[in-house]
Amino acid sequence: MNLDQLRRAIRDVQPNMIVNAAAYTSVDQAETDEQQARIINVDAPALMAEEAKRIGASLVHYSTDYVFDGSSSLPYAETDQPNPLNVYGKTKLAGEEAIRAIGTPHLIFRTAWVYGTTGRNFLLTILRLATEREELKVVHDQVGAPTWSQEIATSTERILRQLSQQGREAISKFGGTYHMTAAGKTSWFEFAKAITEEASRMPRGIPWFEAATNGQPLVTRRLRAITTEEFPTPARRPSYSVLSNFRIKQDFGWNCPPGPYNYMLCLLKAGSTADLSMAQFRRVRGHRPGIRRPGGTLTAEKALRYIAARDRQFQPLSHRRLATG
Ligand SMILES: NC(=O)c1ccc[n+]([C@@H]2O[C@H](COP(=O)([O-])OP(=O)(O)OC[C@H]3O[C@@H](n4cnc5c(N)ncnc54)[C@H](OP(=O)(O)O)[C@@H]3O)[C@@H](O)[C@H]2O)c1
Repeated sequence: MNLDQLRRAIRDVQPNMIVNAAAYTSVDQAETDEQQARIINVDAPALMAEEAKRIGASLVHYSTDYVFDGSSSLPYAETDQPNPLNVYGKTKLAGEEAIRAIGTPHLIFRTAWVYGTTGRNFLLTILRLATEREELKVVHDQVGAPTWSQEIATSTERILRQLSQQGREAISKFGGTYHMTAAGKTSWFEFAKAITEEASRMPRGIPWFEAATNGQPLVTRRLRAITTEEFPTPARRPSYSVLSNFRIKQDFGWNCPPGPYNYMLCLLKAGSTADLSMAQFRRVRGHRPGIRRPGGTLTAEKALRYIAARDRQFQPLSHRRLATG
């Protein structure tokens, strides 16, 4: 879709709200394709913001941890100074700035290290490679918080529902930029290790898993931690891009999903086990006591409790920022 088509689509539909998850996301390719990255990551959201403003609509937009340079050692807050290291990050930041400058009511959710059971992402790449290579080399010196796409979708929907209960002006009043990622932090290496360990215990026959592995057996025997230097890429990446979810929790009562190993929930839920009882869950998991992770154990019980509690996690907005003005 080009910008004219985008404008025409918005004018035809006359939406109350635009949710923009489209982006130029090929981080390495963007280094040599800046013009196209700018059109999609800057010009398109700017156009959406302008059109939204014209018709009194609001805009929900997603951005990225890559707006930061990773020199911090503490989770980044929304107020921290961005300093993107690569073209993708620069264009995403410029897209955010354009939306803010146009001044249409908006929510910008910065997320990070997104994975899911469809599309292109780290989880699916590792699963594919695990059917192809005996040894996987994965960088260990980039730290972030893998975040499940379904959490982002569900959380966005909940927040929008909360806001819609506050009336038409709510996004003007409560809008702004928010970080929305899973809790905790890990490295790509640790994440890959967890994925391969978990995958080796996955029951066969789950459609997305069969698609990810092309129905092939897993052959990876070893994972080797390497440095970013040993795995040079066209785009520089931040070595630390953990985002603080404090603000979104404060304003919307949003509890970030447990992480970084909440991929387990993804694996379970995507295997149509969303409504698993504990007994069924134990059968699927083979009575495993839990998977080991740094700083604790994510047990089956905890995972299920989390799924059950998720519906209760959002507190009414009126208890939050409304109270403080
Ligand atoms: N993935 C991550 O780790 C990550 C991390 C932080 C933030 N984010 C942000 O989260 C959002 C979603 O990312 P994602 O990972 O879901 O990206 P994705 O899988 O690459 O999906 C991007 C979508 O944008 C669409 N798109 C791109 N150019 C388009 C155009 N000219 N016209 C129409 N559609 C177009 C693509 O359509 P086609 O499929 O048809 O090409 C695709 O469906 C983005 O804003 C991204 O910056 C992602």
